[in-house]
Amino acid sequence: MKTITGKTVVLTGASGGIGVFIARALAREQATVVGVSRSKESLEQICAEIEIAGGRSISVPFDISNLEELSVLVQQIHELAGPIDILINNAAIEKYRPFQNYTLKDIQSILTTNLLAPMELSRVILPSMVDRNSGHIVNIASGSGKKGAPYNSIYSASKAGMIMWTDAIRQELANTNVGVSVVCPGYTSAGMFLKFGLPAPNLARVSRPLDVAIAVIQAIKKNQGEVILDGVLTRLLFSNIQLFPNFGDAIYRWIGLTNLNRTCAENQMRDENSVQN
Ligand SMILES: NC(=O)c1ccc[n+]([C@@H]2O[C@H](COP(=O)([O-])OP(=O)(O)OC[C@H]3O[C@@H](n4cnc5c(N)ncnc54)[C@H](OP(=O)(O)O)[C@@H]3O)[C@@H](O)[C@H]2O)c1
Repeated sequence: MKTITGKTVVLTGASGGIGVFIARALAREQATVVGVSRSKESLEQICAEIEIAGGRSISVPFDISNLEELSVLVQQIHELAGPIDILINNAAIEKYRPFQNYTLKDIQSILTTNLLAPMELSRVILPSMVDRNSGHIVNIASGSGKKGAPYNSIYSASKAGMIMWTDAIRQELANTNVGVSVVCPGYTSAGMFLKFGLPAPNLARVSRPLDVAIAVIQAIKKNQGEVILDGVLTRLLFSNIQLFPNFGDAIYRWIGLTNLNRTCAENQMRDENSVQN
């Protein structure tokens, strides 16, 4: 899709973190941004900001983990904004734990929000894109989907699933004008990782949320299959772990990622315990 101007874009997770930067970047491209997330107030705030800056946006508060209701959400968006040209599956959640400490509910909610909801939204929206022979889906995954992130294993599995699912449907749609991209941010100075208040490992590149937003816009305009925002060393690691997975484990221990994630899990469990007591 060469231009985003005038297109209707559904963006999940528009209310916080990286989503806000993607929403602003889309508005600068003169797209109509349909923001979806649970918190009505934060959504309305970003939509108001876009309108004040001269852009077009619509807020649709919705919990995407209600899978059975997603077709109703899409119908509602059609009525408010017309056909959907671009879908950006950005909303996600994560929870750090040693794997055996997750509850079944944790596993279900992370996989539902991060993987099943993007799949179901795409399944419902795609037929109209294929019929019109025009459209683009961008899935926001993560470097954690390229190499397992210890103590964040369910999130990692959801993002790995997203990367492979994107790879498969991109091939199915190759002879159409419907593009599919997966964008994999690494550490980013906004959003979920920032909430821990801990520094990223020394050798890891930290992207700005604006870099992720620019990557999303470029992925659509250039119809890029996969975009990885990590630095060269991490990309080299990702490319080599297919052959040498244990080498990747050693690198993660060496740069301090394994310890960092264990600390995130300990802090999260401590904070949750103190809220419960
Ligand atoms: N930040 C990073 O370092 C980083 C690194 C790699 C990849 N990523 C990926 O980048 C994307 C954005 O992450 P972020 O860091 O911006 O996360 P974030 O700050 O935690 O924001 C997540 C967004 O998703 C929405 N959301 C969560 N659950 C939802 C649900 N059930 N229904 C509807 N909306 C929901 C949230 O809004 P409500 O709470 O109002 O629903 C919020 O707008 C994610 O896919 C994440 O995996 C982030």
